[in-house]
Amino acid sequence: MRRVKTALVGAGFVGPHHIEAARRLGFVDVVAVAGSSQASAEAKAAKLNIPKAYGSYEALLDDPEVEAIHNCTPNDLHLPVTMAAIERGKHVIADKPLALNSDDAGIMLEAARKKGIVHAVTFNYRYNPLMQQARVMIAKGDLGGLHFVHGHYLQDWLLYPTDYNWRLEKEGGASRCVADIGSHWCDLIGYITGSRISEVLADYTTVFSSRRRPTSSREAFAQGGVDESYDEYPVDTEDFASVLLRFENGIRGCFSVSQVSAGHKNGLEVEVNGSKASVAWKQERPNELWIGNRNQPNGWMLKDPFLLDPSISHYATLPGGHGEAWPDAFRNLLRNVYTFISEGRSMIGDADKIDFPTFDDGRESNCIVEAITKSAKAGGVWMKIER
Ligand SMILES: NC(=O)c1ccc[n+]([C@@H]2O[C@H](COP(=O)([O-])OP(=O)(O)OC[C@H]3O[C@@H](n4cnc5c(N)ncnc54)[C@H](O)[C@@H]3O)[C@@H](O)[C@H]2O)c1
Repeated sequence: MRRVKTALVGAGFVGPHHIEAARRLGFVDVVAVAGSSQASAEAKAAKLNIPKAYGSYEALLDDPEVEAIHNCTPNDLHLPVTMAAIERGKHVIADKPLALNSDDAGIMLEAARKKGIVHAVTFNYRYNPLMQQARVMIAKGDLGGLHFVHGHYLQDWLLYPTDYNWRLEKEGGASRCVADIGSHWCDLIGYITGSRISEVLADYTTVFSSRRRPTSSREAFAQGGVDESYDEYPVDTEDFASVLLRFENGIRGCFSVSQVSAGHKNGLEVEVNGSKASVAWKQERPNELWIGNRNQPNGWMLKDPFLLDPSISHYATLPGGHGEAWPDAFRNLLRNVYTFISEGRSMIGDADKIDFPTFDDGRESNCIVEAITKSAKAGGVWMKIER
């Protein structure tokens, strides 16, 4: 396998997990990191054992050794960082949401296609072994015809008015909770069912119309200090939301998302009901797939490469009884992306070899989030997804 040299832009919460997953592949070298200043880049480089530190993403992108980047910056920087990378012919692994809106996502998609770079979006939950298993079971008809999908994605890290993050700011985007975590839920349900959402009806609630913004900056999920000073910051994005769904093939569904549900840390749950059987999965118990039956006992399929469908058993790399979870799904996704890059494949000529979410999927997600937000702002009316 040819070695690939990659770099990280934005080493906050999720960035270091991207590079840890890339390093586990064994054929990817993380050669540089860019921060918002030279000092912060150097501190991150030392902490993450990355050889080169750049004080701006432009300087990093001018480094000819860098072939690919992970764009793990706050959402408002996704467009400028990704476009600058595409211009210089670097492959881009962008975190979600791809863009602040579908127009910007379309711009990135078109530029990436023109330049011929490899483009990916980290909708990582797809690559949990049991989500792959659910996808195969559904495609083979084990559940019969699907009629209902439902679930939620609940967190509690913004439960208090003193909880603060850039996601709450105007630059974070018109939607917060739905864009941040609803995007994962919709991508996952679309992926495992092989179905596209056609219409949505949504209700948004903002619990705190004002939050206490610390005067010093804080990365996502960082704990605040006790003696920090604050100013009041007005917030109008949703703390929680409920959404009804109609799919192109007639499936109906609903999901709720929240960042203010005490006790729920990363509570992504999906359930699919068909004419023969159901499946359900909880991200926080990723090694168990519930199978629901009408005329025989319900069951639990435990993650085990020998029990998974042979076509996807490689997504489990440990034997049964050895848990695999969030970081392993991330590694699985990046394995698909970096294998594609290492083999010198093209997004157009080798389209049949793409097994990772692309900017097309990122744009699709932006379109869904946009329609959901439009519906909520209109007081809860059905909105078609405009693609
Ligand atoms: N796929 C997932 O499961 C997942 C999980 C968490 C976050 N994310 C996404 O990842 C992105 C980052 O989120 P996060 O939670 O890590 O945020 P974060 O605030 O913890 O980290 C962002 C980092 O970017 C840095 N940064 C800001 N401006 C920069 C610049 N000009 N150049 C270089 N670095 C700069 C910040 O200093 C910070 O270190 C978001 O788009 C978010 O939606 C995805």
